[in-house]
Amino acid sequence: MSMKLPSKIGLRTGVKTVIYGLLTLLLGASASAAPGDENAVTSHFSDHQSVLKKSPQAIIEHGKMLFMARFTSVDGAGRPAATQAGVPTKRRVDPSRAFFRTSGPDSNGCISCHMQPLPGGAGDFTLNVFTTDGFVDADFDSMDPQFSNERGTTHLFGSGLVELLAREMTADLHRLRDNTAQDARAQRQTVSVELVTKGVSFGRLSVSPAGFADVSNVRGIDQDLVVRPFSQKGVIVSLREFTVNASNHHHGMQAEERFGPRWTGEMDHDQDGVSAELSAGDITALVAFQATLPAPGRAQNLSPEWKTAAHNGQQLFEKLECSSCHRTSLPLETLVFSEPGPYNGAGTLRSTETDPLQLDLSKQPGFAHLKRDKNGAILVPLFSDLKRHTISDGDIGHFRNELLGQRFADRDQFLTGRLWGVGSTGPWGHRGDLTTLSETIQAHGGEARSSRNRFQALPQQDRKALIAFLQTLVIP
Ligand code: HEC
Ligand code: HEC
Repeated sequence: MSMKLPSKIGLRTGVKTVIYGLLTLLLGASASAAPGDENAVTSHFSDHQSVLKKSPQAIIEHGKMLFMARFTSVDGAGRPAATQAGVPTKRRVDPSRAFFRTSGPDSNGCISCHMQPLPGGAGDFTLNVFTTDGFVDADFDSMDPQFSNERGTTHLFGSGLVELLAREMTADLHRLRDNTAQDARAQRQTVSVELVTKGVSFGRLSVSPAGFADVSNVRGIDQDLVVRPFSQKGVIVSLREFTVNASNHHHGMQAEERFGPRWTGEMDHDQDGVSAELSAGDITALVAFQATLPAPGRAQNLSPEWKTAAHNGQQLFEKLECSSCHRTSLPLETLVFSEPGPYNGAGTLRSTETDPLQLDLSKQPGFAHLKRDKNGAILVPLFSDLKRHTISDGDIGHFRNELLGQRFADRDQFLTGRLWGVGSTGPWGHRGDLTTLSETIQAHGGEARSSRNRFQALPQQDRKALIAFLQTLVIP
């Protein structure tokens, strides 16, 4: 339940403002709630179109209010009759228990987990989530890995840039695929192409003159060649898709665009007595807040000792070919984030269904430090290739702990972790069970085995330098 503060606090103005600001930040309190009201959401936007008339700041503020809210039953939290499944599904088990740590609802607001070191940040092991994404029959009550995959909470800083990169990469790959199909038809023979976008190769695609695509050599991406940069499995296409899933899974706050009458034929699919829990406009605002969270950067004001270590560490990072997967940066053409995006599936609002909101990230704080390459592209320093890899093998099995597949991605494949901000988060790894960066690197096997072995073979001082470099990649 969110805590409301009386509007007058008996302190001198300066101190009062600071304390009130801090409490608001920490507690998600709302200044405009009336005495005794127990809702955490103090206002709603209506549909997505209505949002287009508002200023970016008003939209981001609304999104922040929703992200910081600790939803209550008055808001529509809880879903007595519905499961956490992405596809609207009714529940079978005892609906009288409002919370389940495993199948959810598992918490009160986005902010319950994403808060390290700031709202929008990562989370501790206790905040792990048990995901059964993709399963329709999704009532379960056990932490046994045969029932769900356990994941640690990732941070969301810079995620607008991540989604923009993924969209541009998908567009490139689809262009390559379509051109190859045209060539095959024109040449009346099978043509194959290397699927390279932004310097990252996703393997080879061959297309026959009749238009059949051979995807057996496509690597690290789904066969539809859509880059899905969210979840550590790399199976969620957009912040919007994630937000609709998360609101339902964690809080039983159901987005109208998926759980409303259009797809379920019901006003109150989860039968908690509240309808229209999150409008499309609310979801757009939540996405706007997340998409404009500043890009992580480098720690400032380092002592000479730290500077030297981090500098040497970065060189080792290249030399050991950590950067073959953790790409130091990927080039981005545009900083205009349009919402909703083009690749959302049914049940998530998409750009073909409505006019998009255009948010120019270059006008938001936290993006000014980004450098450009000689062609004018923005260099996004995310330290990832947004591709799935297998980094486990017969000897080093840490990253093949999961027993359930997720949306047709192989069980042992995970998206290359984005290392920007890695110095502010931890514990690390997709289960959030590695307490040091050294252990995390040592847990790399499979495709990363040689890189990891070379790290192991370094003199201690060099290993420390590499870790120091990672420690300087912080959330501002
Ligand atoms: C109970 C803890 C918890 C709560 C509450 C929570 N999240 Fe998350 N969040 C996670 C975990 C764990 C992951 C990583 C999931 C994975 O890798 O499969 C995650 C990942 C995400 C991602 C994808 C990030 C990425 O880089 O892949 C987004 C976006 C996100 N959460 C948004 C939200 C929003 C919006 C809310 C509130 C509606 C929310 N989360 C509430 C734990 C939580
Ligand atoms: C073959 C590709 C590949 C190479 C090479 C590689 N990594 Fe990784 N790395 C990954 C993948 C994939 C993950 C995600 C693992 C998981 O949690 O499922 C990851 C995760 C990480 C993480 C954890 C991130 C987090 O937030 O939990 C760190 C730190 C890291 N790598 C550092 C390194 C360093 C340092 C090197 C070089 C010694 C390296 N990696 C080489 C693919 C690679």
